[in-house]
Parts: sequence; C-alpha cells; structure tokens
Amino acid sequence: MKSISRASAPAKVILFGEHFVVYDRPAIVMAIDRRAYVTARIGREKNLIVVRSRAMNASGAYTISGEYHPIEGGLENKTKFKPIYMIARRILAMSGEETGIEIEVDSTIPIAAGLGSSAAVAVASAAAIGNLLKVKLSQDEIFRLALEAERIVHVNPSGVDPAISTYGGTLIYRRSEGIRRLEVNVDLPLIIGDTCIERVTGDMVSHVGGLRGRYPSIIDRIMDAGEAIVNLGAEALREGNLKVLGDLMNINHALLCALGVSNDAIERLIGAARRAGALGAKLTGAGGGGCIIALSEPGNVDRVAEAIKHAGGESFVTGRAMEGVRIEE
Ligand code: PMV
Repeated sequence: MKSISRASAPAKVILFGEHFVVYDRPAIVMAIDRRAYVTARIGREKNLIVVRSRAMNASGAYTISGEYHPIEGGLENKTKFKPIYMIARRILAMSGEETGIEIEVDSTIPIAAGLGSSAAVAVASAAAIGNLLKVKLSQDEIFRLALEAERIVHVNPSGVDPAISTYGGTLIYRRSEGIRRLEVNVDLPLIIGDTCIERVTGDMVSHVGGLRGRYPSIIDRIMDAGEAIVNLGAEALREGNLKVLGDLMNINHALLCALGVSNDAIERLIGAARRAGALGAKLTGAGGGGCIIALSEPGNVDRVAEAIKHAGGESFVTGRAMEGVRIEE
C-alpha cells in the first residue's frame, strides 16, 4: 500500500450523437483540457470511506455498509458521493485490505453541465484508489468500474462519458461495440458556452425515452439521421473540413430540438454564437441547460466567445486532450 495517490481524468464534449447513443447509435466524443483530480489517502479509521469535494464545499463519511455521516454540508450529498463510495468499496474488496480511505476531489469541470464531470471524477477515483491499494487496474477495468458507478446516478447511461474520460482523445463510441479511435487532422477551434443551468441527465434521458415510446416511427428516423451525421462527421474530422463539421453540428442540434431537449437559454447562446460567425453550434450532452459548443474559423474564436457572454452565458475556448486517465503521483 502507498500512503497517498493522485490521479486525474479529462472532461469531454459530445460533438455528435448524444441521446441517440443511449439507443445503441454511435456518438463522436472528444476529451477536453479540463480535468478532475482525485487524491486518495489511507484513512485513520478502519473501513471508513471519507469523501470530500472542494468545489461543492462538502464532505462526509461512509461506513463500509453504506451509512452516510455528513461532515460539511447536509445529507443531500450522500447520493452525489455515492458513486465514489461504491468504487472505493469495490477496490477495497479486490485488495483484501480493511483500511479506511480518504478521497478528495478537486475538479475544474463545471458540475451538471454536460461536460462529463461526474464520469471524470469516477474514473479518476478508480485510478487513484487502485494505485493507492496496489490493485492493478487496466483502462478497461477502470472504465467498467466507473460505468457501474454511473448507473447509480443516471437512468440507463450509455457509457460514453466514462469511456472518453478513461481513454482520452477523440472517439466513436457505440454501446454494443465500445470505442474506436478517430483520426482528426485539424485543430478544432471550439468554444464552450455554459447556460449555468444545472440539470439532471437522467431526467433528460427519460424524457427522450418517453417520446420514443409514444412515437417510435418518428424518433427512430431522427436517430437514423443522427447516425448519418456521425458517419459524415468522422469523415470530416479526418479530412479537416470545418465547414462540413459546422453544418453537421447545426443539423444535429435541430434533431435534438425535435427531441425536446433544448430550451430558451440554450437557444439564446446558440443564436448568439451563429450570429457572431460560428460555423456551427449545438447543445452538448443531455440538454435542458448545461453547455453548448460552437465551432469557429480559427481567427474568430474570441468574437464568438464574447457573443456568448453578451447573451448571458459563460464561455471558454477549449482544446483537445489526448490523454485519458493518468496517475499523477
Ligand atoms: O451527462 P451528460 O450531459 O454529459 O450527457 C450524457 C449523454 C447522454 O447521451 C445524454 C446520456 C448518455 O448516457 O449517453
């Protein structure tokens, strides 16, 4: 056993195919240069799992059987921290140790915004705790542990978020097939706009599920179109064709609107980005709030970012992260 271990994992943007990916359609997803850092230490008390989040200003302790005792903040954090506790318990069992663990989360990824913050934290937690307890975990095992933990918080997660946080780079992901790395021969000038409206991914996924149940013949055709967008998107990334990528983002967003997962705040940011000359813009992730992404000509990035701010959002320019999960120390 080591006495301390630190790991990190990247946030992500879904370029094409969110929601459709839940129904075994492909999605294109890219890791971005914001990371969640997790530090794991051997705890003072046997079998006690203590979790602390700096961003949430909250902490609490789980007994090994899952009882939660708040330290900072209230009982509501029990559910938020539960995936981390589940991961810690699983890895403790694999190690055969009976030690306590203290886990500290330090993340610069906006929470509940569609950038995969919870998956990045889960992936980094698995890596940090595995390394602490000397349990050798492959990337595939880290992915599976994080996906199992995500099942606690989301309804029917596709697995796209833990996949990209684990493997990094730019991927095509399909539930039944897993990941395929994509060749990207262009710098993508991407601006992220945050509506700063938190939402629950599971609620948005349930909404789409309900619609699909009532109108399968329509929704399945929309998902066929989503799949065609992903195929053309992969080609455009390989060819470095920003114009085509922008068009495809606009079409993808229109399909998501048809599914009812956009709202006024999202539309305001998207309209502003397009008027400022973005080649394309769409919501990213589950919708209902959270973030949009806009693609711009290389020289126009600042103008698009400014326009998003004027429309009431927060914005930042983002770059690709080639590396997925990594041990920091
Ligand atoms: O949690 P978010 O907002 O990054 O959304 C994940 C993408 C969805 O396709 C909406 C859900 C999923 O499990 O794939």
